[in-house]
Amino acid sequence: MKDALSVLCLVLLVSVLEAAETKPNPANFIECLRYRTSPEYPITDAIFIADNTTTFLSSYLSYTKNKRFLSPNYEKLLAIVAAKHVSHIEATVICAKSNGVQLRTRSGGHDLEGLSYRSSVPFVILDMHNLRSITVDVSSKKAWVQSGATLGELYVKISEASQTLAFPAGVCPTVGAGGHISGGGYGNLLRKYGLTVDHVGDAQLVDVNGKLLNRATMGEDLFWAIRGGGGGSFGVILSWKINLVEVPKIMTVFRVNKTLEQGGTDVLYKWQLVSTKFPDDLFMRAWPQAVNGTKRGERTIAVVFYAQFLGTADKLMSIMKQSLPELGLKRKDCHQMSWFNTTLFWADFPAAKIYGTKYFLGNLQRLMQVKAKYDPENFFKNEQSIPPVHVM
Ligand SMILES: *[C@@H]1O[C@H](CO)[C@@H](O)[C@H](O)[C@H]1NC(C)=O
Ligand SMILES: *[C@@H]1O[C@H](CO)[C@@H](O)[C@H](O)[C@H]1NC(C)=O
Ligand SMILES: *[C@@H]1O[C@H](CO)[C@@H](O)[C@H](O)[C@H]1NC(C)=O
Ligand SMILES: *[C@@H]1O[C@H](CO)[C@@H](O)[C@H](O)[C@H]1NC(C)=O
Repeated sequence: MKDALSVLCLVLLVSVLEAAETKPNPANFIECLRYRTSPEYPITDAIFIADNTTTFLSSYLSYTKNKRFLSPNYEKLLAIVAAKHVSHIEATVICAKSNGVQLRTRSGGHDLEGLSYRSSVPFVILDMHNLRSITVDVSSKKAWVQSGATLGELYVKISEASQTLAFPAGVCPTVGAGGHISGGGYGNLLRKYGLTVDHVGDAQLVDVNGKLLNRATMGEDLFWAIRGGGGGSFGVILSWKINLVEVPKIMTVFRVNKTLEQGGTDVLYKWQLVSTKFPDDLFMRAWPQAVNGTKRGERTIAVVFYAQFLGTADKLMSIMKQSLPELGLKRKDCHQMSWFNTTLFWADFPAAKIYGTKYFLGNLQRLMQVKAKYDPENFFKNEQSIPPVHVM
């Protein structure tokens, strides 16, 4: 705790000190980009100078999810590089560093804090949305997914390739794979298959020297750190190699509400006792919320119970009758569908918008050691990134 606090104070102090810096001339940065890239993969079309034109603004806004941040920080933002080739990433890292500006990498999606597109010190945004290819190999049950691809795109590609393969990641289809996976990632297959990062086999990463590495060349420490420690502290992740998991062709989902008047409190209490003992094939959540009562002007609490089961409705009914009969689940509440259709079903659901905060727990020390080794000058940083251990 003391360590964590001193890290926090240090990060805050550094942010305050840096806030005074003024923005360097974007022309030097852009000249560096041109010099560092080959005409074979021209970078010109990928560069958006922060100049208040509609072209620039639409590039900025395309992945700015928090409306509070709709206006770019012109005082600090030099440019957006919407990389189209790995050489553009390498050049952006090298040129940002040599021009003394920070880099914020955004793979697109739900960065509501804006850490991937805002900064109080001079910076450039490396936007990954052009790098969104996905290749699925059914025979080996593996896929490569680039950082800018959304989870929804990944789910579509997997379902086009196979009816019985899936990937255990988040329920929001618009989240970018790069940030989701590097942060840990979880979704409705959590009980059966654990976290998203439990299913990553390899990664391509551009390090602080602008070098493209894979698992073998980056080594196990760095590969460990980017699977949950966040990508933004260690490099730029270009793509992930993921292991797909088996699911039945037909799965079952339900959502059922119980208000206080309908005995919601008792069901919720019982749910706490039984839900950890369900078979791993069954994931069931409870979500209490304030709603209007039956009488006008009256308020009550409704607990929404929702579940996803890797099996048929009949099997699910029998589990629920045995373990949680208080819910009064009916066969007509159960909807059988493919795994892909479950992702569409939940994408419509407001709970999909709820995000859990992720903590580093006892891993902070080790993450800081990896950071000190692979990015000792702390080039890859934001307000919540991992500091190198030697700053302590
Ligand atoms: C951007 O341009 C608009 C109109 O073209 C102007 O009203 C606004 O003040 C400009 N903002 C900045 C930060 O230059
Ligand atoms: C359950 O609660 C949600 C949220 O209040 C509401 O949108 C939905 O209509 C309710 N469903 C039923 C079956 O009462
Ligand atoms: C809840 O009731 C209030 C009035 O008491 C009404 O204004 C509001 O629209 C109702 N909300 C819903 C979701 O029905
Ligand atoms: C999935 O959803 C589509 C569109 O609603 C529907 O046509 C199809 O039958 C569903 N398939 C399965 C297996 O759930």
